[in-house]
Amino acid sequence: MIITKLKIRLYGDPVLRQKSLPVKTVGPAERMLIPSMIETMYQHKGIGLAAPQIGISEQILVADIGEGPVVLINPQIIKKSGSDKMEEGCLSIPGIVVKITRPNKIVVRYINEYNEPVQREFGELFARVIQHEMDHLKGKLIIDYASLSQQIKIKKHLKAIEEGRLQDLPQTAPIRSRIKEELNKEKGVSA
Ligand code: NI
Repeated sequence: MIITKLKIRLYGDPVLRQKSLPVKTVGPAERMLIPSMIETMYQHKGIGLAAPQIGISEQILVADIGEGPVVLINPQIIKKSGSDKMEEGCLSIPGIVVKITRPNKIVVRYINEYNEPVQREFGELFARVIQHEMDHLKGKLIIDYASLSQQIKIKKHLKAIEEGRLQDLPQTAPIRSRIKEELNKEKGVSA
């Protein structure tokens, strides 16, 4: 199997604001893409990655919260409950975290990498990362949840990302092995 290293698209790239199209069927193109997406997620120490983040406007996301990778294609939330507030980071917006309130239990209907229809319940961090990635499929980003005062604070930082001046930014990307520790501290993770 050929695994390609994919470039993560950063804030300012128009593909991150596009609505992704549903996948008709998991074919050879998707079968090549999915392992590369998983590898790219690991390389960047993320716990999730959505196809628009590597420049592909299709409804595909991958996630791994430390239990092995899962692939969700054309995901639809059919039930949600509970609520949690947690800081989230995004591989496409390095150095920024936003506190986001989301349901902490969701039931998702999707197709897996073998073209099989699946209905599965996700909770806690798993529910969070999937909702974060599903936002990506709708062209929505964590900064859209920021308060007005935070939006003002991060303006310069976002401009630096847009203009490719990443060296000016603080390094805050958390690593996967720290997920549990981060959770205990109620800190966020990047996806
Ligand atoms: Ni993200």
